[in-house]
Formats: sequence, C-alpha cells, structure tokens
Amino acid sequence: MTIRLVYYSRALRDMSLQDIQNILTTARGNNSDQDICGMLCYESNWFLQALEGDRETVNELFLEIADDVRHEDVVIISYSYIDECIFPNWHMGYAANSGAVTDMLKSFGLDRFEPEKLTPDQALEFLQNMSGQQQLAA
Ligand SMILES: Cc1cc2nc3c(=O)[nH]c(=O)nc-3n(C[C@H](O)[C@H](O)[C@H](O)COP(=O)(O)O)c2cc1C
Repeated sequence: MTIRLVYYSRALRDMSLQDIQNILTTARGNNSDQDICGMLCYESNWFLQALEGDRETVNELFLEIADDVRHEDVVIISYSYIDECIFPNWHMGYAANSGAVTDMLKSFGLDRFEPEKLTPDQALEFLQNMSGQQQLAA
C-alpha cells in the first residue's frame, strides 16, 4: 500500500546551505534505495516535507526523521492512501525562498512561511508548486 505523509517541523538553528545539502545527500541516497519520493522545503527555520512510498517503509523513515536532532516540534499534517505518487521524479526535491514562494503564500493569505497555518490541501499544493521549481542547495 502506498501512502503520502506530510509534516512540518522547526529547525533547531539556522540551516546553512551546507546543512541542507547534507540532509539532501542522505535523503536522496536512502530514499532512492527504498523507492521513497518526496519534496522538502526549508524556509524561515521551518521544514515542510512530503514522503511518498510503501506504508511501512515511509512510517519507519518518518520515525527516524522525527528523531533527528536537527529539528523539533514535528507535526504530521496529513497521512493519505494514494494510488500514485505526485513527486515520482524527486527522490528528494528542495525549494527555498523565491518570488514564487511569496506569491503562493499570499494566495493562502499568509505573508510569511508558517506551515502550521496551512491546511493539508494548501501544504500539498505548496509542495507541488515548489517541486516544479526545484533548486539544488549548492
Ligand atoms: C528535515 C529533515 C528531513 C529529512 N529527510 C530525510 C529523508 O527524506 N530521507 C532520509 O533518509 N533521511 C532524511 N533525513 C535524515 C534522517 O533524519 C537521518 O539522519 C537519516 O535517515 C540517517 O541516514 P543514515 O543512517 O544513512 O546516515 C532528514 C532529516 C531532516 C532534519
């Protein structure tokens, strides 16, 4: 069974590009081995991430990620059974701030990136939109 889990969390400190690159390198390697796809967004010390793949594999990975000392206050936004992945090409995408982020947030009535204020649908729409503009963190 395939699921999509979306969560947000708070970085424990400002993440440098190198910090993000380190997360992405690990994520892309592990996720590719385990057929997990997804999208990670980091902005204003918030992480927003979608993980898609086999239910048991994603659950185990999520527990590991939630235990990671680089972030805290991990909150699941949604957990859905899906027919197909919407981030199939991204073993782990990454998007940082840009004009597109600001425009998208404005359309949700937000003037900054605060994932705790996003509904599940908005969080997914945001990540989908950002995945179309993937940037490498280096
Ligand atoms: C915000 C955030 C997102 C992460 N996303 C992933 C991920 O998608 N896949 C992954 O394997 N590790 C991810 N990690 C890293 C894991 O918490 C953990 O360090 C890693 O799975 C350990 O892998 P290793 O045993 O191969 O070193 C993430 C960490 C953070 C802080």
